[in-house]
Amino acid sequence: MKIGTDIVEVKRFKKHIVNKNFLNKVFTEKEQEHIFLFKNEQKIAERMAGKFAAKEAISKAFGTGISDDIVLNEIEILPDEKGAPKVKIYGKTKKFFEKLKEKNIEISISNTTNYAQSSCIIF
Ligand SMILES: CC(C)(COP(=O)(O)OP(=O)(O)OC[C@H]1O[C@@H](n2cnc3c(N)ncnc32)[C@H](O)[C@@H]1OP(=O)(O)O)[C@@H](O)C(=O)NCCC(=O)NCCS
Repeated sequence: MKIGTDIVEVKRFKKHIVNKNFLNKVFTEKEQEHIFLFKNEQKIAERMAGKFAAKEAISKAFGTGISDDIVLNEIEILPDEKGAPKVKIYGKTKKFFEKLKEKNIEISISNTTNYAQSSCIIF
């Protein structure tokens, strides 16, 4: 089992809401759909920050940080039917994970107006 955690400032994401390059680099298409279900700038930035914190928490649980092996938009965080965040990974990020002995990824995300935090365990 390994653990990772991250905290980010929500305001950092506000300036990126209309930056399609940033959005595509960091979030999958489905994540962008989920983020923009909100129409309110603050709520959009909070959801962006939460997903970003989760991706960094996952990269720390992997032991790599965001690196050549771990690509932000190859990690997809979407809610299940109860609203709990679930992780799917793709591409070379998935290949990297498959080399680890851990087989499962679980995350939790939380935010206030100013900060979003996420924890990840892989086991
Ligand atoms: C580790 C990483 C994920 C995050 O670092 P960060 O957000 O700048 O800094 P944080 O304060 O959240 O984390 C720093 C801590 O992470 C931990 N850490 C560093 N490398 C790590 C690794 N390979 N595995 C696990 N944890 C690691 C350390 O405890 C570090 O604290 P220290 O510097 O006092 O030793 C790093 O890969 C990174 O810089 N990511 C940023 C990528 C990014 O912003 N991309 C922009 C895309 S548009």
